[in-house]
Order: sequence, then C-alpha cells, then structure tokens
Amino acid sequence: MTQRLLDDAAGIARAAELLRSGELVAFGTETVYGLGADATDTRAVASVFDAKGRPHFNPLICHYPDADAAFRHVVASAEARALAERFWPGPLTLVLPRRVTCPVALLAGAGLDTLAVRVPMGATALELLRQVGRPVAAPSANRSGEVSPTTAAHVLAGLDGRIAAVLDSGDCAVGVESTVLDLAAGRPFLLRPGGAAIADIEAVIGPFGRGITPLAAEAPRTLRSPGLLVSHYAPRLPVRLDAATAGAQEALLAFGPAPAGAVCVFQLSAGRDVVEAASRLFAGLRWLDAEGARLGLAGIAAMPVPLEGLGLAINDRLQRAAAPRP
Ligand code: TXA
Ligand code: MG
Repeated sequence: MTQRLLDDAAGIARAAELLRSGELVAFGTETVYGLGADATDTRAVASVFDAKGRPHFNPLICHYPDADAAFRHVVASAEARALAERFWPGPLTLVLPRRVTCPVALLAGAGLDTLAVRVPMGATALELLRQVGRPVAAPSANRSGEVSPTTAAHVLAGLDGRIAAVLDSGDCAVGVESTVLDLAAGRPFLLRPGGAAIADIEAVIGPFGRGITPLAAEAPRTLRSPGLLVSHYAPRLPVRLDAATAGAQEALLAFGPAPAGAVCVFQLSAGRDVVEAASRLFAGLRWLDAEGARLGLAGIAAMPVPLEGLGLAINDRLQRAAAPRP
C-alpha cells in the first residue's frame, strides 16, 4: 500500500530515496500535489502515466530546486532568466528548448524538443528536490479526468495502492496549477493560465499572445500544446500501423517476438509489457527514423500493441505518428 510520509527530516529523506530508486512519490507544491518520478528514469516516467491511467502521453513538467539546475537542462533566454528571477520559487512553468545534453527521458517531454521546467515554492518540496538531485517529473497527482489534489488525502483517494508514497506537507497554498508560458517559440505564448498572474508576467516581459493560435496562421512549431495536434511528433519516415511483419523496405517497431527477416528492428518489449513499451516508445521511433534513413528504407511498420493500460496511450501516439502530416 501507499506509505504516508510526514514532512520531517526522515520523511523527506525516505521520499528522496524512493524517487532515486525509480518509485513514484506524490509531494505537495504550492499549487497542487504532484505525482513525482525521477525524470531521467524512463521506466519511472512510464509508470506515472500508468498510475494516472492517462489515455495519451502529455508532456510533464520537470521540477528543480533552483533556476541554475533547471537552466542546465534547457536553454534560457534573457526573458526566461528575468521571469525566473521574479517568480521562482513559484507557480510559473516555462517551456524552453531542451539542451542536447539534457538527461530527461524523452517520454517525460512526450517526445518534444522542448521541456517545461519550474521551481516550486515550499520548503518541503525544495528540500526533496535538492536531496533527489535529479529533475522530478510531476503531473498533478490525480487519476486522469479527476480534479487536481490539494491535500495528501485527495492524493490517496485516487492513487492509494498505485504509488509508493505520499509526502504530506499539508494543504497547498495556491490550489490551482502553475501558469504555463511557452518561451521556445520565438515570442512568449500563454499555454495555461494558473497561479502566476498574467499582469505580473507582463510587467516583466511585456504583452504576449494567449489562447490557442490557429495552426495555419503561425509557424507549426509555435503551437506546442501537443494534445491539440493530430500529428505532433511524427518520424520523417511514414508509419504503417498493425503490421504483422515488415516489408523489404521497412524498419520494424516490434512488440513481442519480431518476425524473422526484418532487417532493422527496435524492440519495444520482448515480453509484451506495455509499461516497458511506453518507456521505450519515443526513443524507438527516433532510432528507427535515423536507422531507417541511413539504410535507405521507405517506412516504419509498427506491430500491434493491445489497447490495455498504457497500450491506449501507445496506440494514441502511434496513430498520431501515422496520421497525414499537416
Ligand atoms: O502546478 C503545476 O503545474 C502542477 C504541479 C505538480 O507542479 N503540475 C501540473 O502538471 O499541473 P500537469 O501534467 O497536470 O500539467 C502540465 C501542463 C500540461 O498542460 C502540458 O501540456 C504542459 O504543462 N506542458 C508540459 N510540457 C510542455 C511542453 N514541452 N510544451 C507545451 N506544454 C507543455
Ligand atoms: Mg493535471
């Protein structure tokens, strides 16, 4: 069952140890409770989606103890630095380009080349992040479709038995999620209103766009709320779904034993485990894209993945990858 940890020295140390060993730990921030996982551990990140029962992979916010740690993993513009100075620790999330050296699992960013980062407020959360010493990916700690939790009891109501522990730091002070601001697209863009007031942000960087831009009117890269895009991370090679085997000119994304004869194979999970498959999906698509191009192949054939548990999210993403390109 899920352990309930107190926010004393022993509880925080235990929570950090669990996170470092790949377990899921919910923890309080000033906004809502987050469902934390070591963001560099792709298997742990996959189990976040599994625990939440999400039918698709949204990109997660990575939490850091300070701006220096965050900006080691993303490229910070002058605007990003000014906002960090003014708002962190606090309820503002910045979407910025990943550095090439960024160790965060591709799955945590849903395969995007950007990463959402923030430094939450609260002594317990910050001490936890310092002790983990790695970025902690954390969506709100609720089952998919339920409201975000602002107490440890809310977390347990949805996730008891599905996660290793909850670190109880009492009620969340802000109670709504962080404001999400995209700074990766050239000009700032509001992706989600939240705990940091727009007027306060504009006082630092001036007026910016908000709402959803029509895709056609903007460069495609500027629309970054991935759930809204039918085809957002698509490999360059066309993807064929529900393939029993690879054709002569195809690379193969395998799930379970690969048929004989395929020349270029990425195995998602030999044992047909959907959590393992999810943890390898984005890396696999990228690898097949690169290898397939190197070998002069014409496409990627994807073996079927069952529509169970994380298989739903895997199929959702494969369908997007196979959809006609905008
Ligand atoms: O207050 C909060 O932000 C809480 C606490 C736990 O930090 N977290 C939270 O996470 O609300 P979540 O996963 O429920 O929402 C993350 C939001 C989503 O709307 C997601 O699409 C957006 O951030 N997001 C994350 N990474 C992104 C990226 N690279 N590009 C665009 N949007 C991104
Ligand atoms: Mg949420």
